[in-house]
Amino acid sequence: MQGIILAGGTGSRLFPMTLSVNKQLLPVYDKPMIYYPISTLMGAGIRDILIISGPAELPLYQRLLKDGSQWGVHFDYALQEHPDGLAQALLIAEPFTKGRPAVMILGDNLFVSPDLNRILRNLDESATGATVFAYPVTDPERYGVVEFDDSLRAISIEEKPRVPKSKYAVTGIYHYDGHAAEYARTLKPSARGELEITDLNMIYLKRGELKVHILSRGTAWLDTGTPDSLLDASDFVRIIENRQGLKIGCPEEIAFNQGWIGRDELLALAAPLSKNLYGQYLIDLAHGEL
Ligand code: TTP
Repeated sequence: MQGIILAGGTGSRLFPMTLSVNKQLLPVYDKPMIYYPISTLMGAGIRDILIISGPAELPLYQRLLKDGSQWGVHFDYALQEHPDGLAQALLIAEPFTKGRPAVMILGDNLFVSPDLNRILRNLDESATGATVFAYPVTDPERYGVVEFDDSLRAISIEEKPRVPKSKYAVTGIYHYDGHAAEYARTLKPSARGELEITDLNMIYLKRGELKVHILSRGTAWLDTGTPDSLLDASDFVRIIENRQGLKIGCPEEIAFNQGWIGRDELLALAAPLSKNLYGQYLIDLAHGEL
């Protein structure tokens, strides 16, 4: 399975923080935001990852993340000239996906989930259709809301409905079959001038091919799009990490635990960070002391 991370956008709700720095490069507690979606994909065993961002930011991601081999994965990079919507990413990704299925994740979505790894690993690569991941919220009118039948097939999706048909928000992780680019090509820009992901999902829904996975109770789904939610996400990570002494969203750790890098490679990654707690954590991990 391949992965796509959307790391562009304007980040206007975070202005002035994001006037010169892309949102996904901002810190969430002790690491850049993009480490979290990367970790979500890596945790699911996805090693072929496309990162999409704007012209000014793409070189910064390349500097930060390189070709991925240091973490036992492979990063490709693709340019989105202008943030013209989430569904455009499927068009940009076409030379990468080449008609194969992919998991797409928004760069500002943070998942801490006991079962997402398993669900993503078990997705049937040969099945037709798309899957959205639903999460119960108390304020569904703020989100894309999905309604579904007993067999978890989507019946309706509505963007920020005044009267929501369910309490399930559509989160920022999606699985698409190899037809996504073909369908995305038929979309027209919305009133706000974007190719909307909800419109792409609607195509699958109308074909009866939009499945829903409900994320379990123990899942934390946070987005980091506003100053408050960004701080909440940092607080959440800080509290759990300090309480457990284990990190959330640490790609080096995932690579090591998956056996994609060895002890010496992990220690080499830790060396330049050894003066801080992140580096110390990697050293402890390499020595089996966590
Ligand atoms: P949004 O939060 O919808 O948009 P934004 O990041 O530009 O922020 P704001 O609304 O405050 O201006 O984007 C969701 C995610 O998708 C985020 O990680 C950025 C990314 N994105 C792209 O990569 N390309 C795009 O064209 C858009 C619209 C978003």
